[in-house]
Amino acid sequence: MLLEEADDIIKKTLPHKRYVHTLGVVETARQLARRNGVDEETAAFAAMLHDYAKYRDMEEMRTLARELGQLELLDYDDELLHAPIGAELVKRELGVKDTVIYQAIANHTTGAPDMPLLDQVIFVADAIEPNRTYPGVETLREIADADLTDAVIATLAHTIQFLCKKQTVIFPLTIETYNAFVTAKRKGTVL
Ligand SMILES: [Fe+2]
Ligand SMILES: [Fe+2]
Repeated sequence: MLLEEADDIIKKTLPHKRYVHTLGVVETARQLARRNGVDEETAAFAAMLHDYAKYRDMEEMRTLARELGQLELLDYDDELLHAPIGAELVKRELGVKDTVIYQAIANHTTGAPDMPLLDQVIFVADAIEPNRTYPGVETLREIADADLTDAVIATLAHTIQFLCKKQTVIFPLTIETYNAFVTAKRKGTVL
């Protein structure tokens, strides 16, 4: 599938505001990819499809999560489902079988301890694309300009703090990802 075809599908699938957000993620992902040695077109393609399932019926996604054995997801915020289940739907419905794209979509909300550079690019781009306006986003953009690993850590820290303030449960993978990246940073190993 070409990027233009994915664009057409996303334009038809998502509400206008979410489509605009998606285009912002595509643009930011391109910039981060160029700066961090990630294939720009792959990043643009994953970014275009990352929120494919954002507005899908929750029961449908819960059913699919059960079918895939991803039962832990069902105990946490429904908001989490659109990433891993979206990756599966992109594969099943759009025929995108590339595991690299699958993973980048699946990891875009929680992150993953071993996520490769492409996934890091999509994860950070989703948080800092130009249409994002939450307090602290400017700082995250500055960090992302300087260092991708630092941006992953700062984005996770921001998310965890936000969830703590709301006293919302935190998906364990998000904490595991934070720990993995902070540890790697401290040891000087690159993830
Ligand atoms: Fe998303
Ligand atoms: Fe998004």
